[in-house]
Order: sequence, then C-alpha cells, then structure tokens
Amino acid sequence: MNQAQLRPEAVAATRQAGLSPPLPQIPADIFDPAHYAPVRRSLLEAETLPAWCYISEAFYRREVEQIFLKVWNFVGRADRIPSPGDYVAFDFVGVPVVLLRDKQGEVRAFVNTCRHRGTQIMSGEGNCAALRCPYHSWTYGLDGRLRGAPGMEDTVGFDKSDYALQPIRIDSWDGFLFINFDPDSIGLREYLGDLPERFACYNFADMVCVRRKEYDLACNWKVYVENAMESYHVPTVHGLTLQKQKRDINPPIAANGEYCGLYTRHIGSRALLAGDTGFPYIPTLTGEATEGTFYPLIFPSTMFALTYDCMWWLEIHPRGPSHMKLIVGSCFPRSTVERGDFDEVLAKYVRRWDQSIPEDNDISERQQLGLASPFTAPGRFSALEPLVHVIDNWVLDRVIGPAR
Ligand code: FES
Ligand SMILES: [Fe+2]
Repeated sequence: MNQAQLRPEAVAATRQAGLSPPLPQIPADIFDPAHYAPVRRSLLEAETLPAWCYISEAFYRREVEQIFLKVWNFVGRADRIPSPGDYVAFDFVGVPVVLLRDKQGEVRAFVNTCRHRGTQIMSGEGNCAALRCPYHSWTYGLDGRLRGAPGMEDTVGFDKSDYALQPIRIDSWDGFLFINFDPDSIGLREYLGDLPERFACYNFADMVCVRRKEYDLACNWKVYVENAMESYHVPTVHGLTLQKQKRDINPPIAANGEYCGLYTRHIGSRALLAGDTGFPYIPTLTGEATEGTFYPLIFPSTMFALTYDCMWWLEIHPRGPSHMKLIVGSCFPRSTVERGDFDEVLAKYVRRWDQSIPEDNDISERQQLGLASPFTAPGRFSALEPLVHVIDNWVLDRVIGPAR
C-alpha cells in the first residue's frame, strides 16, 4: 500500500509514532480541501504545500484554468514591438499567442491559430504586413480580419468576415503589457490596484528595455516564484555573489491590489555586485524608493525588482507541472541609456544578473528534483519567508477554493 492509499489518520498515527512513513504519491482526491488545511494555518504554524502541487498534471491543469486563463498575465514591454507590423509569437500556458503593433500603432494580441484548420500562424518575431498561414495561405490583416482565403470561393455560405483571428484582451501600464484570456475579468487597473500609483516615481513610461534573456527551466512555476520572493536563501545560494546583502526581516509591504512585495532598506544599487559603481540614480525617485529596493510580485508570477538606478523583471511562462520559461528583462531610464558610456557600464549590471540568476535557476531545478520524489513530505516555514506562504495560499484560494 502506498501513501496515496493510506487514510490521513493512519498517516498521522504513523508520524506520531515517530516513524517515517512512505510519503505522498498523488492522491485521487487531490482537490479535497482537507489536504491543504495545514497550509492554511498562520505562517509559523503552517506546513508547506504538498509536493504533488509541484508535480501533478491535474493540479497544474487546474492552475491554468483557474488562474492563468483568468488573470492579467505580464508578457513584456511594448518597446519590444515598436513599429507597425512588428510582432512576437509565443506560447502561454499552451495557447499560441501573437502580439503585434497594428497600422495605427496600437498593440494587439490574437490567438495565433488559423481559422481554417488550426495551424499556428506566426512563429518567432519580426515585422510583417499581414499574417499569412504557412499551410494554405489564409492571410489576416494586422487588425486580425481575414483578408485572403484562396480556394474558398465555392464553399457554401463562407464569409471571410466570420473568420477573423480571435482577439485576446491586452492592456498596458507604463509600457508593461498584460494579456487576459477571460473576457469577463476585471480590468488591468483594478487588478493592479494601487501598484501603479505606489511606484509612479520610478517613471517606467520613460524607461527603455535594454536586455531580455530567456531560460528554459525544469521546474514548476511556483518553485521559481517562491524563490524570488524570499531572501532566506540569499546567503546560501548567492553566498559568493550577493553576500553583502543581509537577511531581510522586513514584513511584506501592504498591498491593495493583486500583488504583494518586499522592501529592503540599503545603500547602493541592488543590480550591481558589491564594490561596483554604476549609473546615476533615477532622478524622479521619492520617499522609500530613495532608501531601498522594492520587490513586488504581481500575482501570480510576475516579479519586479525596483532599485535606485534601474528595474528588472522576472516573467514566467508555465509549460506544464515541471517546466517553465523564465524571461529576465532589464530597463533603465532613457537618459541613462543615452549616455556615451552606457554599454561599458551596463556590462557590470549584466555580470551581476548573469551570476545571480543562474544560481536561482539551478537551485530551483534542484528543488524540483527533490519534490518529484515519492518520499517528499511537507515542511515548515521560516519567519524569513512570509510571502512563500502568502503565494501558496493565493494559489490554493483559486485552485481549491477560499479557505474555510
Ligand atoms: S490551416 Fe491555415 S490556411 Fe489552412
Ligand atoms: Fe535568489
């Protein structure tokens, strides 16, 4: 008999007896709220999520349905497609998506699936006058309307106007693009709440994305988000690189919107390695932004780091229970990017990101390997990882239902 077949009382009795029971496979009743009661307790009394939340196909599918297909998902900066006809195609939780800039200069998003027989139309990125399906040459305008459908003249009752690309809701905040697959969801402004106002002094609208790097990782998306939103691991995982950062015991920032975050008071840009000097500070910073760094997480999976001289983001595209794509984007004020020494000084920032991000990537993949074991049991939280608990409960609220 494996753990999946053991009744919870039997497991508890085994644990009380000090024995090490064989631990969870994936139970059949995975969505029973009883499994998650220990995660629902307050931080210092709670257990971590059961390991199956990070490896189960069924749990992942429910996350896609209940979270990613319903929320505003961050998909990069608008300056990635600056000119009419510019496009980027990518997969987001199994949906082929194409973002483009139309002739009027508006950014649009469409399901990147041909209305004829479903072929993925665009791939990669580039500039186009129209979207032409590589299978039978159905051709769509930048507004999504079907313009050409050769060979369809004799098809009874066929009207091109009935076969436009399916639009996806898209909205932006200061150059950050978000898509939403749910036509009934609240608007982006309401979703973000007071976040745009709170961070207005960073003047993101005047920033330029100067670097964008993608990584394919063999870990669950929550593994990565949890890592990014706690500083408990910093002395261990980044011991040789970011060691000058002390452990944060600041409480999470109060948030009014679908986000949470950390704030750390410190001296010197967090985007540089110890001892390096970089660019002038963002001239418009005020208040706490002049004394430290904010690390907001826009639920469920978009992380920003807002420091004195720049911002960088971690964008996650989940790709199944055990895989994800990570995109790291870096933005600086336009006045910084226009400096003669920009490329030279930027190299110091790149050195920092190229050291610390692979460290987080490696530990996340390593955690996934451990979580995949049938013997992994829930653990406990430190006071240094309050947002891991917040994130896990945010997920449970949507996948399992509100706490009772
Ligand atoms: S599937 Fe696209 S034109 Fe046939
Ligand atoms: Fe880290």
